[in-house]
Amino acid sequence: KTIIRKVNKEHPEADIICQAGDILKKGGLVAFPTETVYGLGANALDEEAAMKTYAAKGRPSDNPLIVHIADMKDLPKIVTEIPEAAKKVAEKYWPGPLTMIFQKSDLVPHGTTGGLDTVAVRMPDHPIARDLILAGGGYISAPSANTSGRPSPTTAQHVEEDLTGKIDMIVDGGPVDIGVESSILDVTVDPPMILRPGAITKEMFEGVVGTVAVDHTLIKPDSKEVPKAPGMKYRHYAPKAQLTVVEGDTDAVVNYINERTAEHVANGMRAGIIATAETMEQYQAGDVKCIGTRADERTIAAGLFGVLREFDSDGVHVIYSEAFQEEGIGSAIMNRLLKAAGHQVIHV
Ligand code: TXA
Ligand code: MG
Repeated sequence: KTIIRKVNKEHPEADIICQAGDILKKGGLVAFPTETVYGLGANALDEEAAMKTYAAKGRPSDNPLIVHIADMKDLPKIVTEIPEAAKKVAEKYWPGPLTMIFQKSDLVPHGTTGGLDTVAVRMPDHPIARDLILAGGGYISAPSANTSGRPSPTTAQHVEEDLTGKIDMIVDGGPVDIGVESSILDVTVDPPMILRPGAITKEMFEGVVGTVAVDHTLIKPDSKEVPKAPGMKYRHYAPKAQLTVVEGDTDAVVNYINERTAEHVANGMRAGIIATAETMEQYQAGDVKCIGTRADERTIAAGLFGVLREFDSDGVHVIYSEAFQEEGIGSAIMNRLLKAAGHQVIHV
């Protein structure tokens, strides 16, 4: 049986945080909000708790977990070295939507790191996450709290859909702010390398440490090479319906999507359309969902996973989405959208 408790985001109730912290200390699983997506928390220093995490998500155990901390003084205990670049980036962007890869110390079991000698570490900026990490002992592993292969959860209801009955507790802190997972920066290499795009963008990293590299499997998705973040190789975020991303000038994109959805509808099929505030009135048929406004792409990041889940439960047969500029947060949006589409893109 899964306990579900609502918690005040700004002033987390101490009794509920204590209850959740106890479960974590005893090796149990607690889902909780961070500013990016909901995480599935467990004691990161307990190999058995890691195994339970993999089982609950149905996730392959070679896909390492991120260790969450709440205090900078806890970092040196789980890593062997903190490179200069990492110090600068941490100073600027921790707590926040950022994960860094370090060489791990012996304190971190290989069960948590998927057998790797490196460890991913994140310090989230969310009052509930912060309090819970401390209550749970200071080192909490947390992959996104979804069933492996589904979109990451941005509300507690999404977590319930996937994990009720499989975990001990869900802490409901309301919808998250950012909506896409943290940026991952590997600081074991020089220059540091982005392994997963997120809300902390390449330009933002470069403002702090100069040049940063980008894992080129992110840029050339058709590449046969294995991505450096093991999780990036799986077909994530896959909606049940085939998703096609349509790139081009706005009018051409809208026309193309209108033509295709008209065809599908004429054939008795249900077509979903991922639209923006700027275009949604221009679509004539199909199930149109507005994901956010191009005037502020953060709204699009926040809306993406929820819209993909809605189309799953609506049971549409195909989905068309507009494309976004691969700049700033747009890089993270397009990375997730293209993965959801299995890289099916049409240029019009
Ligand atoms: O925003 C986030 O990062 C969320 C919240 C809950 O903190 N967590 C999250 O975890 O997205 P997860 O497990 O869904 O994604 C972790 C990614 C995977 O692609 C994994 O392969 C990669 O991080 N990763 C973890 N440890 C790594 C390591 N040592 N080296 C390279 N990649 C690593
Ligand atoms: Mg995930």
